[in-house]
Amino acid sequence: MTIDLAALPQDFVWGTATSAYQIEGAVAEDGRSPSIWDTFSHTPGKVDGDDHGDVACDHYHRWREDIALMKELGTNAYRLSVAWPRVVPGGDGPVNAKGLDFYDSLVDGLLEAGITPSVTLYHWDLPQVLQDRGGWPERDTAYHLAAYATAVAERLGDRVKHWTTLNEPLCSAWIGHLEGRMAPGLTDLTAAVHTSYHLLLGHGLATQAIRAAVPDAEVGIVNNLSSIEPATDRPEDIAAARRMDGHTNRWWLDPVHGRGFPADMREVYGVELPERSGDLETIAQPLDWLGLNYYFPSAVADDPDGPAPFAQSVHRPGVPRTGMDWEVDASGIESLLLRLTDDYGARRLYVTENGSAYPDVVRADGTVDDPERTLYLEQHLAACASAVRKGAPLVGYFAWSLLDNFEWAYGYDKRFGLVHVDYRTQRRTVKGSGRRYAEIIREHGGRARKAA
Ligand code: IFM
Repeated sequence: MTIDLAALPQDFVWGTATSAYQIEGAVAEDGRSPSIWDTFSHTPGKVDGDDHGDVACDHYHRWREDIALMKELGTNAYRLSVAWPRVVPGGDGPVNAKGLDFYDSLVDGLLEAGITPSVTLYHWDLPQVLQDRGGWPERDTAYHLAAYATAVAERLGDRVKHWTTLNEPLCSAWIGHLEGRMAPGLTDLTAAVHTSYHLLLGHGLATQAIRAAVPDAEVGIVNNLSSIEPATDRPEDIAAARRMDGHTNRWWLDPVHGRGFPADMREVYGVELPERSGDLETIAQPLDWLGLNYYFPSAVADDPDGPAPFAQSVHRPGVPRTGMDWEVDASGIESLLLRLTDDYGARRLYVTENGSAYPDVVRADGTVDDPERTLYLEQHLAACASAVRKGAPLVGYFAWSLLDNFEWAYGYDKRFGLVHVDYRTQRRTVKGSGRRYAEIIREHGGRARKAA
């Protein structure tokens, strides 16, 4: 597919993204303590195939090879997450220098390769010791996040300027504490709502902590948003879509923009928030940028007997789906970028994740061709460029993911990588989509050089 990316800024950030538990492995090395995901994945029946992240992509030992792959793709940025249980194995208290050494070397390696690191502090791997003390439903956890943020920022902040406090807090709160499909596997609405509150409080405190340690830091938060529409024009479905939008989008965006928690959703949940005076101001720290993770849109129908928000996504016949059974519709990324611009006044936006899982086939000659993932990539990049033409201040795109990796409750079966990983041998093979991404980056760079 030919795509017109001329609207993207000349100095566009072209990246890939991963997260610690999904790729690192080495779960018991150099003082790392277990996280809630070690516990969850080692609980029989919680993860497909009873897979776990003990070895994953062995990135902890193979990171040099992985940086070489990023260079091969021609990316100029890399979004990684730091594992809290490596850095503060006790959850709070003493910092484990060895845990930080790993990220220190990784950051140096990236910079030497001309790749700008973008560091996420929390991508779901809460130290299990903190879960044992109550986890995110407890207010203290937010303060522990800030202390951990200080430790990481003080060590890496001379070289890392791009910081994310939380990745997709929606998943930690709703999927981890309400639906039970992710660690810690609870199905408790009060715990889920309190988790959402403390995550956002932690985001505000961590933002302050990063800025105190790194005055020129650029701090943002990453949300996975969805473009939502009612499945039919029945009033019940229209109201359900509004609730789903509140649950998925507004609950996470409004508070960090100083609008507080949406009143309609407070009513839907019917749970008292653990509010203290000053919290809303802390949560609404001014941000340098906003991150959008976009995968799929949702058509929503009323579901009065289901869990909050009493709404469910329905299958639309004829809409193509990925291997995750997620709808493919690139217009959603465009409409969300424009919504963040128009409704929330975003001044700098990144697509911090976007990608697709399909069952890949390794050919006899060792190559992997993945035309569906390639098309998904092209369509979504074209939609990003269209959003920019309409005024969205989009400055970068991080493909999810650099590597096939541990896809949480789906285990290793779902592959999102631009690079295929053979988990038996740890052999990495750039897929067709990876080669196409490299070509797109090269072409854009070439155009940028010509224009300069
Ligand atoms: O693998 C995840 C990632 O950890 C967070 N965002 C969505 C990806 C695909 O499900």
